[in-house]
Amino acid sequence: MPNLTRTLALIKPDAFERRLTGKIVDAALDAGLTIVAMKSVNLNRAQAEAFYAVHRERPFFDSLVAFMTSGTIVAMVLEGGTAVPAWRDAMGATDPADAAPGTIRRRFAESIERNCCHGSDSDANAAIEIGCFFSGEELLR
Ligand code: CMP
Repeated sequence: MPNLTRTLALIKPDAFERRLTGKIVDAALDAGLTIVAMKSVNLNRAQAEAFYAVHRERPFFDSLVAFMTSGTIVAMVLEGGTAVPAWRDAMGATDPADAAPGTIRRRFAESIERNCCHGSDSDANAAIEIGCFFSGEELLR
């Protein structure tokens, strides 16, 4: 059995409210990733601030937190041989204007903030981010 890695994927409020969840889940499956865990969540302000703490000093931080608490999101743990880059490739660049054709953000995103989805940027951050949404018990396989 090959070594499997995991990443945290979020479907953001802009995509959830436009009923794009199924299409984004399909994109993850089409990328060869397996869903280990999945739930819908409404973040409160403290949770969103903690999740995006690394961006606290950025000019877009308050707006990002307001957006991420504005509606329901879907959190998923995705698994694959190289889950972090596989999901990032499926999402495309942060700014949809720079995202490659066929990627989720190029297909669906409205702006750099309302960009449909999130993915961890390293295996170490994936472990931290997964812990923000899922207990160890929810991740047993
Ligand atoms: P995400 O992958 O969730 O990580 C941080 C988020 O901040 C990013 O996606 C965007 O939604 C948002 N973001 C990054 N850069 C900017 C920016 N320049 N202006 C507004 N939002 C941004």
